[in-house]
Amino acid sequence: MTRRAVVIGAGHYLPERIVENAEFEATLDTSDEWIRSRSGIERRHFAAEDETTSQMATRAAEAALKSAGRSASEVDAIILATSTADLTFPSAATMVQSQLGMTNGFAFDVQAVCAGFVYALSNANALIASGQADRVLVIGAETFSRIMDWTDRSTCVLFGDGAGALLLEAQDGAGTADDRGILATDLNSDGRYKDLLYVDGGVSTQSTGHLRMQGNQVFRHAVEKLAATAHTALARAGASAEDVDWIVPHQANIRIIQGTAKKMGLSMDKVVVTVQDHGNTSAASIPLALSVGVERGQIKPGNLIVTEAIGGGLAWGAVVLRW
Ligand code: UT7
Repeated sequence: MTRRAVVIGAGHYLPERIVENAEFEATLDTSDEWIRSRSGIERRHFAAEDETTSQMATRAAEAALKSAGRSASEVDAIILATSTADLTFPSAATMVQSQLGMTNGFAFDVQAVCAGFVYALSNANALIASGQADRVLVIGAETFSRIMDWTDRSTCVLFGDGAGALLLEAQDGAGTADDRGILATDLNSDGRYKDLLYVDGGVSTQSTGHLRMQGNQVFRHAVEKLAATAHTALARAGASAEDVDWIVPHQANIRIIQGTAKKMGLSMDKVVVTVQDHGNTSAASIPLALSVGVERGQIKPGNLIVTEAIGGGLAWGAVVLRW
């Protein structure tokens, strides 16, 4: 018998305000055509002025709990992947805990930028596999609109806000690749690449800062590293690319998504794509895509899924799970 972390619920939340590419044409030397053709993005959601990451995370968590038919009091831990927490401290995860009315368990944030959800899933899997928790809410939530430089056309048109959540539960499996739940993970980072994608501010430098990115350099690393991490995780799971039902990638750029699928030898029919509607929501993009994939009827129980992501750090990784 092997203790597996099985997904029993998924949910998401997107802020009400939708901004189409064309809206940027009024203030920037850009076009809907450029944004669409270079990134695949058509629109994104932006949080309201008084809307915070923890509030969006809570909405997504409530939806995940509802879809699982569970209540917050049955949750042992909350892991929230975010780089845009409400406050410097406490963690946004503890704010979600109180907003859900939980007085039990423990909660913490994980900060691995766009790879955050993959890191959070891996942590949740470790907590469940080691018997420290039976039920874990894993959330990705971001308000990247707060760290955009609205005069920088090479970054501000790419990102959006939102939240997605999964509820994981300990269940016994046979220890084979046919089990439901997380089968394998692969995490990597290389801090030498800090200057490719970062925010030029923070607590110890006494400012909030704005996102800075050398997009074409990140692009080059993404195509090379994402297929490699997906293959490593698949091999650890005892599966191969042919077994995959869905790739659910980090949604940064349709060209990266297509390049990774091609390197894995899989057609785009096997990829859940939401980048056109959400833009890049950093740590929220994978749980958003998983939840939307279920809602669309793409992802079904028993499907073998590979998620993969890369972002600031650089930090990257993949998780293989059977839904
Ligand atoms: O989620 C974290 C990980 N992040 C990513 O994965 C993002 C990875 N990078 C990308 O998605 C792409 O590199 C971008 C979408 C950011 C850019 O696409 P690109 O094909 O790599 O373009 P580029 O950066 O090489 O820029 C090409 C040209 C430049 O002009 P020149 O130097 O050729 O005259 C840019 O100034 O496009 C220009 N440009 C724009 N033009 C119109 C950059 N941004 C814009 C814009 N509108 N918004």
